[in-house]
Amino acid sequence: MARSNPWGKTSGLAGFSPDAYGDGEARLTCFCVLPEHRGAGLGSTLLSHTLDGARRVGQKRLVIYTLAYIDSLPPGAVTYLKSGARIEAEYLQLQRK
Ligand SMILES: CC(C)(COP(=O)(O)OP(=O)(O)OC[C@H]1O[C@@H](n2cnc3c(N)ncnc32)[C@H](O)[C@@H]1OP(=O)(O)O)[C@@H](O)C(=O)NCCC(=O)NCCS
Repeated sequence: MARSNPWGKTSGLAGFSPDAYGDGEARLTCFCVLPEHRGAGLGSTLLSHTLDGARRVGQKRLVIYTLAYIDSLPPGAVTYLKSGARIEAEYLQLQRK
């Protein structure tokens, strides 16, 4: 699913893979808005349309695994949480430099 700006150019992209984690559990495979269009509500709109699209094909959950440094939220987390998402699990990976 792509969102275009008033000039007909693509400004964001989102997609999901149905049943990726089991029956009715889709994987959010991509979700991004071009930097110059961020912070204007496009991501939330795109996510809402993506959720609608997932529901239309029988998906009950849309799941994403994402990474972040230990003292910060992953990219996209604020948008997901404001759209009603929940953090269901967190994993810690330590790496020696
Ligand atoms: C994540 C992304 C798609 C959000 O798109 P966007 O168009 O900026 O999102 P919105 O404008 O709809 O913002 C939704 C809400 O989240 C907040 N938000 C978005 N990015 C934020 C950030 N980096 N830090 C804090 N809040 C943020 C907005 O303020 C807004 O809250 P509000 O409704 O109270 O104003 C965009 O930042 C992006 O493409 N990032 C790079 C790709 C990426 O990280 N994708 C996620 C992969 S897991």
